[in-house]
Amino acid sequence: MTEFVKVCNLDDLPQGKNMIVRVNGKEVALFNVKGEIFAISNICLHAGGPLGEGKLSSDVVMCPWHGWEYNVRDGSTVFNSNLKVEKYDVKIENDVVLVENK
Ligand code: FES
Repeated sequence: MTEFVKVCNLDDLPQGKNMIVRVNGKEVALFNVKGEIFAISNICLHAGGPLGEGKLSSDVVMCPWHGWEYNVRDGSTVFNSNLKVEKYDVKIENDVVLVENK
């Protein structure tokens, strides 16, 4: 069974914002797209830039280092949907955000 870990309160992540959390030692980028929360690896495939510090436009985040763009719903890069960072499942329980531990 999938284990989920509490990472923050829903209030900590307003709509249109992103942040970085740690899940079992791994850096995970969290995004709030119109009230839906998504989680992908924080580490950009290009050179390791922090995706959780990128600019979020709708459901696409731009890496702050050199501008690679990722769809936060599935972690795929915009220019090649087969090139992806890891995606994590998210649950909300009592206004608490929980992320899959894998
Ligand atoms: S490290 Fe992300 S675009 Fe270069």
